[in-house]
Amino acid sequence: MTNREHWWKNAVIYQIYPKSFQDSNGDGIGDIPGIISRLDYLQELGIDAIWLCPMYRSPQDDNGYDISDYQDIDLMFGTMRDMEELIVKARERGIRIIMDLVLNHTSDEHRWFREAKKGKDNPYHDYYVWRDGVPGKAPNDMRATFGGSAWEWVPGLGQYYFHQFSVRQPDLNWDNPRVREEIYRMIRWWADKGVGGFRLDVIDQIAKEPDLGITANGPKLHDYIREMSAAAFQEGDLITVGEAWGSTPELAKLYSNPDGSEFSMVFQFEHSGLDQQEGKAKWDLAPLSLQRMKAVFEKWQTQLYDCGWNSLFWNNHDLPRIVSRWGNDGVYREYSAKMLATLLHGMQGTPYIYQGEELGMTNVRFAPEQYRDIETLNLYRERKEAGYPEAEIMRSIYAKSRDNARTPMQWDDSAQAGFSGGEPWIDVNPNYRAINVAAQRQDPDSVFHYYQRLIRLRREYPVFAEGNFRLLLADDAQIFAYERESETGKLLVICNFSGEPAECGLTEQKQMKLLIGNYKDTGNARQLRPYEAGMWICGK
Ligand code: GLC
Ligand code: CA
Repeated sequence: MTNREHWWKNAVIYQIYPKSFQDSNGDGIGDIPGIISRLDYLQELGIDAIWLCPMYRSPQDDNGYDISDYQDIDLMFGTMRDMEELIVKARERGIRIIMDLVLNHTSDEHRWFREAKKGKDNPYHDYYVWRDGVPGKAPNDMRATFGGSAWEWVPGLGQYYFHQFSVRQPDLNWDNPRVREEIYRMIRWWADKGVGGFRLDVIDQIAKEPDLGITANGPKLHDYIREMSAAAFQEGDLITVGEAWGSTPELAKLYSNPDGSEFSMVFQFEHSGLDQQEGKAKWDLAPLSLQRMKAVFEKWQTQLYDCGWNSLFWNNHDLPRIVSRWGNDGVYREYSAKMLATLLHGMQGTPYIYQGEELGMTNVRFAPEQYRDIETLNLYRERKEAGYPEAEIMRSIYAKSRDNARTPMQWDDSAQAGFSGGEPWIDVNPNYRAINVAAQRQDPDSVFHYYQRLIRLRREYPVFAEGNFRLLLADDAQIFAYERESETGKLLVICNFSGEPAECGLTEQKQMKLLIGNYKDTGNARQLRPYEAGMWICGK
């Protein structure tokens, strides 16, 4: 298939964090009927597909990324019937559903793990990763992402099991062909239900080699992915996107090989780590540098051109709100939210919009007891014990906690932002009276309407999907500018990333047509104003 033939090359995807999107029954937890009731809103925005974070049966130790049954829906979200209805109702609106597959680990309450713990000769024992040992002396000193050792002792067995995330998320053993077969069968079962694709959670970590200290990019990783793709992804032009924190352009070319042997694309996170100190934890903050940001995007845009495919995103359920990190969530909130959107949506790849991003939703500053995320809570405890000052810990949490993205969707200015008739599982961001869907729908200049226009543009002009990428003004400390060119036309994007006016040496936009800009008269001023951004075209 050529570039434009895959639907997902011209698509814009919307990510829903179900727990925080829309509650329909007043229990404070977002649910499937809630999502169905908001499909008209999503259709109005103009998106092509919805990526749903996990709604499978789960004890919710890690908000659904700990699955106890891949083929059932958790009661708090609804029923399998509701899910099927969502798939159908979304399709009626031209929207496909993308399911989140968590294949690196299960919940410790999954039937496989319960069986596995019963004995070394249980048929499910080898579904997980075990090492013999003695209590108090883990096989090695590998650490889990959410804190503590990656090994957990099971006295009855005299063995440790391996977990890269929480103790309640035991790692699956991908070297066992029966595990792989069960997984492929389960994926086909979902595909047969009519879903449009899959997002694959921490997929680069499935082929771990704990004895060698290897978590990501194990030697057998791409063999396993190719096997899975052949067994489960070949029918129906599914979109498949792997989450790969440790990806490089070289690896991404394998993952997103146009021959379809692996995935459609991957999420790589190089740009999202630019605010942290190299080699340190994500909590150890570093000053932002626009030049580094430009270099990262240039690298990915040019190196995957014609031999891979990028996913484009600023936000997700694990990342802080972009307007609070790279924009300005004070007086320039709307300008900077639109600027960031302009920059990203002009690039090659498939854009993802995370719920609330289309409103310019911001980070929160909660008191410690208002946080819910296991990662944040563990970090707080660990750093307290290690003697860090409270203010420093909270600074990291304000900047990077995953709960920044997990506060409820802000629908209107009524109680709980219209998210729930009850007490939400996590507090609403107090700024919901000013920032909400109802207000932005009425305002033609809102961030919402700006996103709506960006989404339409991508469909109108082939250069978005096809054009190459050339960075302009590489050394400028305020401006991020680039052009895209294809046989049909040329696109120019200019963004002021700062809260100060910026001199811009580019002139060619004067001869081009303005497609979109975030000031009323973008393109006319001598200088770029704070966070000013525009997109120009010539050709069609
Ligand atoms: C991914 C998910 C994250 C989850 C982790 C473990 O990074 O996006 O939310 O905690 O995997 O499944
Ligand atoms: Ca509910």
